Amino acid sequence: MTDTASLSQLKSRLHALADGETGQPPNAGALMKANPNARLLMGDDPRLPAMPAKPTLIDFFRHRFGPSMHLLQSARHAMTAGLSEKMVLASLLHDIAAVGFIRGDHGYWGAQLIEPYVDEEVTWAIRAHQVLRFYPDESVGYEYPQSYVAMFGADYRPDPYIEEDYRRMRNHRWYMSGRMITVHDIYSFDPNLHVELDEFTDIIGRHFRQPPEGLGFDNSPVAHMWRAMIRPAKYL
Ligand SMILES: [Fe+2]
Ligand SMILES: [Fe+2]
Repeated sequence: MTDTASLSQLKSRLHALADGETGQPPNAGALMKANPNARLLMGDDPRLPAMPAKPTLIDFFRHRFGPSMHLLQSARHAMTAGLSEKMVLASLLHDIAAVGFIRGDHGYWGAQLIEPYVDEEVTWAIRAHQVLRFYPDESVGYEYPQSYVAMFGADYRPDPYIEEDYRRMRNHRWYMSGRMITVHDIYSFDPNLHVELDEFTDIIGRHFRQPPEGLGFDNSPVAHMWRAMIRPAKYL
């Protein structure tokens, strides 16, 4: 096979994959031999654990959400405080965008990721936690995090869109749901407290509508976001 032929074959494979085909190409071995970058271009990143064909939320926790002890500790904290199962789930998922694939606006991204699969209150609260964490609420003992003073400086003001969202969220009927995520958001991570994901599998089962086709393959408006986490290095 000539280099030109293998390159055009690779391109047509990439287009097929971009059109939604997700399986390994039948000639993957030959392509990879012809072009050492093909493996990465197709998003088959050898540094990441393989994912099952129909990945569940739990698969993402195990293989893609990186160190998720912060989420597990926050969810345990929320559960111990007697929050509803829905809000324990919200605590468990509040930072999945940040540990999954993006940092900026992680509350908004995280809410959007799960919008088709959970009740609206859960996504509302996850979006809100990103905003509310900048604003103290004495009524529930939430203080402005000292770590933010260290990170951003004492005179830091949140961006205008955050300020605007805060005013809107402060008067919303679910304000306290979003606030509860910030209350149970474990800023001082305890390296000695180990929490197993198994503690929450029943809650996930009851309140997260797992698509049978797998996250990323259910043709939902957010499927591409889950696919991006499965294969973050995929070129097209
Ligand atoms: Fe967060
Ligand atoms: Fe957090």
